[in-house]
Amino acid sequence: MSVLVVGASGAIGSLVVAGLLEREEGVRATSRRSQTLSLPDQVEVMAADLNDPSSLAPALEGVERVFLYADLDDPEALAAQLRRSGVRHVVLLSSSAVTFPGAEDDFNGSRFLRVERAIVDSGLGHTFLRPGGFASNAARWSWSVRAESAVSLPYPDAVQVPIHEADIAEVAVIALTGDALLDAAPVLTGPERLTLRDQVETIGSVIGRPVSVIEQSEAESFALLSQHVPEVWVRQIIGDWRDAVGATPEISGEYTRITGRPSRTFRTWVGDNVELFR
Ligand SMILES: NC(=O)c1ccc[n+]([C@@H]2O[C@H](COP(=O)([O-])OP(=O)(O)OC[C@H]3O[C@@H](n4cnc5c(N)ncnc54)[C@H](OP(=O)(O)O)[C@@H]3O)[C@@H](O)[C@H]2O)c1
Repeated sequence: MSVLVVGASGAIGSLVVAGLLEREEGVRATSRRSQTLSLPDQVEVMAADLNDPSSLAPALEGVERVFLYADLDDPEALAAQLRRSGVRHVVLLSSSAVTFPGAEDDFNGSRFLRVERAIVDSGLGHTFLRPGGFASNAARWSWSVRAESAVSLPYPDAVQVPIHEADIAEVAVIALTGDALLDAAPVLTGPERLTLRDQVETIGSVIGRPVSVIEQSEAESFALLSQHVPEVWVRQIIGDWRDAVGATPEISGEYTRITGRPSRTFRTWVGDNVELFR
């Protein structure tokens, strides 16, 4: 019986495929642009779009467990397709945003809540992975670190608990290969609270060259980020930073409880991705 990974091109999806192969699980993988996926021969690759649930039907044949991203428009239609196809267990990459007060009215929280609810209401077995901010968000700084040895930020003292994407993928693999996490919804974070300024300093320390923080206004930050990120997301990112100044976000022990290992540090993430910043 295969496990299907939807979004095998993604940072986490590709690590989930690799983790399943390490465990010698049968893996099927989809992407909307399946011809661009380069995966080992034993992975069966197919095309599918979460926004066209019937496109998943061939990939779901004989599949009991599915890894899913939550970036989709009609979660009820998708859940109905998964049920029709005989899926038993969905492992959804959700977000810790669903646990925050007011999640229902928050742009980010509500889009994950909709998907989680549709899956629960459909009666599918599920694991909702609820990570906080990814360490990989720092990849957005790569250009200015390389070009200017500086990062411009409106709220450098915003506090985060960045999580390495490999930690999320590992928990996904555990969920996809047994019932240990059936109907669980672990909040996943990194091991330490770090301000954005701490993160910039860590990048400098790993690459062996100081990287400075340049304070900028919200308007300047908005203009800069909007060059690459849709405006609705820019508002979310800046608002989250503003709210995180002086905050003490939860450090979750779930990764360690589930895997028995300490979660990877931000420094480890920078080391694993050092070429982005050199
Ligand atoms: N950044 C954070 O701090 C943070 C925190 C919590 C949660 N999250 C969530 O984590 C996810 C990003 O994870 P990542 O870094 O691994 O993403 P990524 O590298 O950007 O990859 C996104 C994946 O989603 C797939 N996908 C998107 N829309 C799809 C659709 N309509 N049908 C099928 N597949 C679709 C893409 O597949 P294709 O090959 O088809 O393009 C791609 O493989 C997002 O959902 C984000 O909201 C992020």
